[in-house]
Amino acid sequence: MQTLDIPRIIGHRGACAHAPENTLASIRKAAAQGARWVEFDVRLTREGELVLMHDGDVKRTTNGRGRVLDLTLAELGALDAGAWFGAAFAGERVPTLAETIALLAELGLGANIEIKSGAAEAGATAAALARILAAHWRAAAPPLVSSFEVPALEAMRAVAPHWPRGLLLKEIGGDWRGLLDRLGAATLNVDHRPLDAGRVAAARAAGRPVLCYTVNDPARARQLFAWGVSAVFTDRPDALLAA
Ligand code: G3P
Ligand code: MG
Repeated sequence: MQTLDIPRIIGHRGACAHAPENTLASIRKAAAQGARWVEFDVRLTREGELVLMHDGDVKRTTNGRGRVLDLTLAELGALDAGAWFGAAFAGERVPTLAETIALLAELGLGANIEIKSGAAEAGATAAALARILAAHWRAAAPPLVSSFEVPALEAMRAVAPHWPRGLLLKEIGGDWRGLLDRLGAATLNVDHRPLDAGRVAAARAAGRPVLCYTVNDPARARQLFAWGVSAVFTDRPDALLAA
């Protein structure tokens, strides 16, 4: 596995308090605010490509409707992914993963690529991600590939084991240690809200950096870092970096 270089502050969906989430404008904004890494979500299109989109349906963040899974790249490319956020962003497009990687290289940004999928398309999504990373990722440091969807991480491990994987959990519970080991996960990425010092200590004892989403309050970020959290995902990189 290649060496990860994770900074403490990671832009969430780019810098999604300041620009429409999961767009190139949002990633540019995160970089302009001083973030060294961004997190974004990827989903499978009808023809097996990957685009940046959080929800399964395009309705909330574009002027279109329908499931990403049912739409082609051409159909997705015709959507406006910025006007819903503000008139200044009208005309912003749904980016492909390939063009996003090109922008990351131009800006010198690292990334956490979060796979969004159901169990049914987890294998196809992982296969697409492995293919696109092999073709386009040229930076020395690898991206972190994370998911809540265990089958997606299992599939990534099977098809491209060299890309580090992060296990996303809403809560540290169940057989989370066994899952980390079974997936060969490099990081544990968790919701910060149920965390306390004891839970962070237990997570760190499992030997993985703990990354927390979504932290927009500088005081909370300081507390999490004091407990041993390695990095936080934030909608407001400017506010957390200033603090
Ligand atoms: O990867 C961290 C965070 O993005 C997970 O939750 O719903 O914002 O994708 P969500
Ligand atoms: Mg995400």
